[in-house]
Amino acid sequence: MIAKDIPLSLYVHIPWCEKKCPYCDFNSHILLKSIPEKDYVVSLFKDIDEDKNLTSGRKIKTIFFGGGTPSLFSASSIEKIIEYVDKSFGIDSNAEITLESNPSSSEKEKFKNFLKAGVNRISIGAQSFNDSHLEKLGRLHKGEDAISAVKAAKSAGFKNINIDLMHGLPQQSVNEAKNDLTIGINLGINHISWYQLTIEPNTEFYSRPPALPCTDELAEIYDSGMTLLAKQDFKQYEVSAFTNNGKMSLHNLNYWSFGDYIGIGAGAHGKITLPNNQIIRTKKIKMPEKYMTKPQFRNPSKPIFISELATEFMMNALRLKNGVPIDYFEKRTGCTYEEIEQKLLDLQSQGLIALDKKRLQTSEFGYRFLNSILEKF
Ligand SMILES: C[S@@+](CC[C@H](N)C(=O)[O-])C[C@H]1O[C@@H](n2cnc3c(N)ncnc32)[C@H](O)[C@@H]1O
Ligand code: SF4
Repeated sequence: MIAKDIPLSLYVHIPWCEKKCPYCDFNSHILLKSIPEKDYVVSLFKDIDEDKNLTSGRKIKTIFFGGGTPSLFSASSIEKIIEYVDKSFGIDSNAEITLESNPSSSEKEKFKNFLKAGVNRISIGAQSFNDSHLEKLGRLHKGEDAISAVKAAKSAGFKNINIDLMHGLPQQSVNEAKNDLTIGINLGINHISWYQLTIEPNTEFYSRPPALPCTDELAEIYDSGMTLLAKQDFKQYEVSAFTNNGKMSLHNLNYWSFGDYIGIGAGAHGKITLPNNQIIRTKKIKMPEKYMTKPQFRNPSKPIFISELATEFMMNALRLKNGVPIDYFEKRTGCTYEEIEQKLLDLQSQGLIALDKKRLQTSEFGYRFLNSILEKF
C-alpha cells in the first residue's frame, strides 16, 4: 500500500436548509436569519489548513459540495472555496466538481455562476414530481419547480446532471413511482439516484411514522422501477445509482472503491491514509456555530483497525455492480488477500460472488442478496 497512490477526494459540507424535512437525518440546520456565509468560508479555509498536512501532497480528484443545501451559498463563495482548495492541495485538471441543489433555491443565473466558479456537475434534489407526495415529504417546492431547476441547469450549460428521486413514499402507488422516473428520464438528464425512503432515528418520521406502502407494494415499486430504468438505458452501477451515458458519479465511485477523502465543514467525515500507511477517520464538530468558533475543527482522529478494514472495504466495493479490481483490496487496506480468501471461496461456492483473477464483485444472483453477503465480513 502506498498512500500517495490512493485517489483523494474532498467533501465540503454546507449545513443549512430553509426547512428541516421530516425524513432527513443529515447534519442540516434550519436557517433562522441569514447564513453566516463569510464566516463559514473563513472557517472552511482554516479547516483545510489543518487537514492539508495529512495527505502526502496528493492532488484532489473530485469535490462534492453536499448538505444541507449548498445552493443557498453564493457562487462567489463557492468559487473562493474552490480556489483555496486548488492553492492548498492542487485540483486535477479534469476533476469532477459537484454541487447539490435544492429546487427551491435553483435559478438559471445562479447555475451559470456556479459553472463559472468551476462546478461541472449539478445534483438536483427533486425527490418526486408529485405535489401531493412532495407535501407529505415536507418539501418547500412543487414538481414544476424541480422540472424548472433541471431546465435551468441545462440552459446554464451543465452537461452532467443528476436528480435525486425517492420511492416507497407515504401512500405512493406503483404507477406514481414509475411516473416520477418517467418525468425525470424525459428531462434528458444523464444520472438518477433512486433511493428507497428509509425511516431514520432522530427524524420527525421516526417519531410519527407515516403509512408507507406494504412490503409487497415496495417490492413491486422496486421491480417495475428497475425494469423502466433498464428499458430507458439507465444502467445501474451501484445500489441506487443509474446513468445512461456512462458518466458515473466519480466522487461516490471513489468512496465505494475505498479511496481517500477529506471532509471539511460542520460534521464532515474523512478517511485518509497517512504517509506511514495508517488509515484514519476524521470527523469535524457537528454544530455549525461551534464549528465556526472553535479554533480546532477536528474531533480526535481515529485509526481504522485492521479488523474493521476488510469489512469496510467489502461494504463499499460490493455495492458496485461491477465491483472493483481485486488488487484494490491490498492496495487500499494494507491487509493481505489471504485474510478474506476463504470467505470469498465459500461465497463463490454458493454462487453469490463472481471471483476471477482481476475483479472482486458479486454475481448477478448475489447482487440481490447484498446484505446477506456483507454480513459474512
Ligand atoms: C444531502 S440529501 C439532500 C440534498 C438537498 N438538500 C435536497 O434535499 O434536495 C441527499 C439525498 O439523500 C436522499 N435522502 C435523504 N434522506 C433520505 C431518507 N431518509 N431515505 C432515502 N433517501 C434519503 C434524498 O434523495 C436527498 O436528495
Ligand atoms: S433533505 Fe435536503 S433540504 Fe431537506 S433537511 Fe435534508 S438536507 Fe435539508
